[in-house]
Amino acid sequence: MNLDTLMPQYVRQFETYIPSPPDDELKRMFGIERLIRLNNNENPLGPPPAVAALLRSLDPALVPRYPSGDCFHLREKLAAQLGLTPKQLLFGNGANEVIAFVIKAFCEQGDNIVTADRTFAVYEWIARFSGLEARLAPLNDFGFDEEALLAQVDRRTKLVFICNPNNPTGSWWSRDRLISFLERLGPDHLVVLDEAYCEFMDQPDYPDGISLLSRFSNLIIFRTFSKMYGLAGLRIGYLAGVEQVVDSIRKTCIVYSVNSIAQVAALAAFGDQEFIRATRSMVREGQQMLAELCSTLQLPLLAGDCNFAMIRLPFSDTLAYRSLMQQGVMIRTMTAFRFPGWIRVSISTRDEMRLFCEALSRLVHSRTDRNPLARAYGVSGSMPHISAV
Ligand SMILES: Cc1ncc(COP(=O)(O)O)c(C=O)c1O
Repeated sequence: MNLDTLMPQYVRQFETYIPSPPDDELKRMFGIERLIRLNNNENPLGPPPAVAALLRSLDPALVPRYPSGDCFHLREKLAAQLGLTPKQLLFGNGANEVIAFVIKAFCEQGDNIVTADRTFAVYEWIARFSGLEARLAPLNDFGFDEEALLAQVDRRTKLVFICNPNNPTGSWWSRDRLISFLERLGPDHLVVLDEAYCEFMDQPDYPDGISLLSRFSNLIIFRTFSKMYGLAGLRIGYLAGVEQVVDSIRKTCIVYSVNSIAQVAALAAFGDQEFIRATRSMVREGQQMLAELCSTLQLPLLAGDCNFAMIRLPFSDTLAYRSLMQQGVMIRTMTAFRFPGWIRVSISTRDEMRLFCEALSRLVHSRTDRNPLARAYGVSGSMPHISAV
């Protein structure tokens, strides 16, 4: 068998994403008793109480049956609450799967997608291993840049992906800015507005993409239950659009990919305002702790309303990863995401943030005591504290 002739060149060239080992394996590898995961922007308060109660009382008779193939009850409930029809919603095994549905539905060889060069990487990855061109517009001041995006668009551009707020920089477009971009782009391309972190946003002019569907029929909104609702392990996300667009995407949707437990858990979680308030309050406190830490250590911090922040280090992010792991804290290195020397940290409980702050302080002091020049690098530039807006 010759895999080289069996496999398309664009798949052969694609570098496999290696997920991190499970906690027990990591603890063994790094010789640690406790591991704090601050690498995936999860919600440590999750799942919401109604979901926890439901999981404890689940009927095993659910398991031998296939789930509802189109998330029937969940679609009905969310549609009613979002002011949409059930046909305007489509669920997937996490928002990640929904990205694949959309790309498969609209793109063929020779087409391209446009997005930013430093955003959620899965848009680019799925396009590339599907043999499509992913055109990447540089960020401007850590945010999506309309001019750079529009400059990449041509007649073969099927989809433009806007991550709002952006993972990993936390930057976001206001309603006016988004509308102006949609007007300038025109109706000949579809725009995906990824709102995976929308429930964290607390700014009056942050747009609700769903409210714009009646005005822009080429808009597709992504949402997930993995972030605010703390259901990442159950894998459920969805998209919303006008019926005609969603009907088209349904053709490439894998039926039964959303399991029964994820469906009932999402039903129980959706709209739990008390849980959202508690999570936002935890995030505010955690962000404050990071701001104080970075001010003390004189490290540039990129932060917004979301449950993550980026910190620039005066040494390699890989080195930081290893050292923090040895202290039981896992962060995300950002070199592979085109931010060399930066780490991304998820916001967690006060206790876990305190442990992270202590671990990072120890690391920074040990490095800069050894190499005073490194400290100068750490404070260089004009951005000791950047607030992503
Ligand atoms: C911006 C963004 N979109 C989509 C996703 C995918 O979420 P899901 O867990 O629902 O697949 C993530 C996950 O990190 C994300 O950050």
